[in-house]
Amino acid sequence: MSLDLSSLPATAAEYAGRPPQDIVALALQAFSPAIGISFSGAEDVVLIDMAAKLGVPFRVFSLDTGRLHPETYQFLEKVRTHYGVPIEVYAPQAEAVEGLVRAKGLFSFYQDGHKECCGIRKVEPLVRALKPLRAWVTGQRHDQSPGTRADVPVVQLDRTFGTPDAPLVKFNPLSHWTSRQVWAYIRDHDVPYNALHDRGFISIGCEPCTRPTNPGQHERAGRWWWEEETKKECGLHAANVAAVG
Ligand code: ADX
Ligand code: SF4
Repeated sequence: MSLDLSSLPATAAEYAGRPPQDIVALALQAFSPAIGISFSGAEDVVLIDMAAKLGVPFRVFSLDTGRLHPETYQFLEKVRTHYGVPIEVYAPQAEAVEGLVRAKGLFSFYQDGHKECCGIRKVEPLVRALKPLRAWVTGQRHDQSPGTRADVPVVQLDRTFGTPDAPLVKFNPLSHWTSRQVWAYIRDHDVPYNALHDRGFISIGCEPCTRPTNPGQHERAGRWWWEEETKKECGLHAANVAAVG
């Protein structure tokens, strides 16, 4: 089965209220094995769990920025062994990191914003990770970031990383799920999670750009807290910002 790219908005509307398992199944049926789950957080393991149960080949990749918490590395390893899936880890280009750190130090993002560092440590490796794929799957959810993710559809043409010659489809099967639904799934299915969640962290990214949140604070408040709400996208999901900007 393959998906008609010109009718993706209609497919997104049709699947908007369907369980994420149906959307993961649709994604894998259409693109396996050239489809990758983009993995860093709790939502992504829910997707890996759902995909693993289908018995259809898929890939998992993770962008190792070099600035992750030790707990996040332990979490990646836990997921690798739990599901027996290879995790394709992409590292940034050494010369680019060396150049940035030599010119501006290790914490330039606190002064001039996270875009440059994320560009080197996440976006460029993502471009390489996506190269062999026809589709990717993310754990984005509407209520993760009302400023930028409220309209994320369950499936869309990725105009940021795809081209007319090499179109790329992006699936967001959990876009309509709440955090509560994600954690209910994690508990019900014994899905491994990052130990930092037991210490007040909700949304987890790189160590210097993530902090725990207080009860009542929005989950995104712990990410790039020195920047404005609508700039809190690192470039992986740049189209979300273009959509609001
Ligand atoms: S971010 O863009 O602000 O960092 P967030 O942490 O909310 O993203 O995660 C949203 C989705 O982006 C995740 O569910 C995952 O699919 C993808 N993602 C984010 N960071 C990474 C990473 N380091 N490696 C792989 N995928 C990632
Ligand atoms: Fe750099 Fe912070 Fe972006 Fe990580 S989240 S790549 S440390 S700016």
